[in-house]
Amino acid sequence: MEATEDTEEPPLPLALSSFQVSEEFGFLLSNPLTELPAPYGPWMDIARQLPQLIVSHQLRSRVHQMPQLSPQHLRGHEELRLAHLVLGFITMGYVWQEGEKGPVQVLPRNLAIPYWEVSQALGLPPILSHADFVLANWRRKDPNGPVEIENLDTIISLPGGESLRGFILVTLLVERAAVPGIKAIPRALGAMGQRDEDTLHRALEQLAGAIEAMSRALRRMHDYVDPEVFYTVIRIFLSGWKDNPAMPHGLIYEGVSPEPMAFSGGSAAQSTVLHAFDELLGICHHQDSAAFLHRMRDYMPPAHRALVQELHGAVSPCPLRQHILSSGDQRLRAAFNRCVAALTAFRSHHITVVTKYISIAAARARAEPGARAGPAGGQPPSALETKGTEGSHIFSFLKSVRDSTREGMINA
Ligand code: HEM
Repeated sequence: MEATEDTEEPPLPLALSSFQVSEEFGFLLSNPLTELPAPYGPWMDIARQLPQLIVSHQLRSRVHQMPQLSPQHLRGHEELRLAHLVLGFITMGYVWQEGEKGPVQVLPRNLAIPYWEVSQALGLPPILSHADFVLANWRRKDPNGPVEIENLDTIISLPGGESLRGFILVTLLVERAAVPGIKAIPRALGAMGQRDEDTLHRALEQLAGAIEAMSRALRRMHDYVDPEVFYTVIRIFLSGWKDNPAMPHGLIYEGVSPEPMAFSGGSAAQSTVLHAFDELLGICHHQDSAAFLHRMRDYMPPAHRALVQELHGAVSPCPLRQHILSSGDQRLRAAFNRCVAALTAFRSHHITVVTKYISIAAARARAEPGARAGPAGGQPPSALETKGTEGSHIFSFLKSVRDSTREGMINA
């Protein structure tokens, strides 16, 4: 029998499990399904062959022959998430099969209607987002083995081979490295309420350690992802149809609405992790950057979005900072500043990554056009060179977000 504690822990003010956040995997879907029920074989068959179908320009005709299936046989959150992942990948391949020069205006009804219905059931937009691409797109090769890149694989893929796999799995490792930091949030809030400075100090140290581990995980991008493949092959498939000059009118989801709809492409700006940490630490971003980041919350699973909203309510206008200032406790101030410094360093390193994978890769592609033929037409996405997924000027945006993070330090 286990020894019982003398003192009972006070209940935490916020239960992560009620926001679909796992103690082990954070915002990642725990052990995602890899197969849909038998009636959805036609979707899975296409999804499993996506890279080949896109490279051989056959995906659109395969989609035209696909039967229109109703999502009514899908049971539970996991099946719906896999269906959203599968239909999202097929949609990106369908739209961008011919590259930036030949997107479609209309998503055919046999794809658009079930995709719309599954999206409505989940409260997710009908486009491939971080929630699909990374959070729901992983499996262990050995189910009893570790969550290490060597033992991981994606469920659904796109052109880009090992670099595509590395891009998804390194991003997954960043999400996973964040888990101790996510678990520190309710502890920090609870400790603040109890004025338990030792526990608060430990929670902040744990958060700082997690953000530092996220930076180490992000560095692994350099080992697994070739910038040229990322830029000329992969990136187009993450592009959306909002503020995108290649699709100025958006996309018509046939049978859903006669009007075109506009959605941003997939980006880790849609990851709940940094939104949650920013809220806890009271980081205030400048107006335009904040507006973009807020729009990205619409691409999160609703339960994760609700957690960020809850944190905004719980810590606005940053009682954590006020608490630390009024405590006069130097240890707390140092631990808080270690969190802010780690977050600033993460964002600085992210800017280096984006420079390498977008700016430098774009310059190379311009200097040596056709050096590597992209899968769908051999052209890098020229309209996207200096712009973010949503047309924001990426470097001024990323630097503004990094600089406003640094301004969150307590200097007093
Ligand atoms: C090759 C790797 C990567 C590239 C090229 C890249 C590119 C970008 C770009 C262009 C943006 C601007 C906003 C947008 O267009 O959506 C952005 C934002 C962002 N990215 Fe990445 N990214 C990469 C990897 C990652 C990883 C692994 C993470 C961590 C999970 C991450 C987290 C973020 C966050 C949080 C933002 C929003 C800005 C912020 O909060 O600092 N990115 N990224």
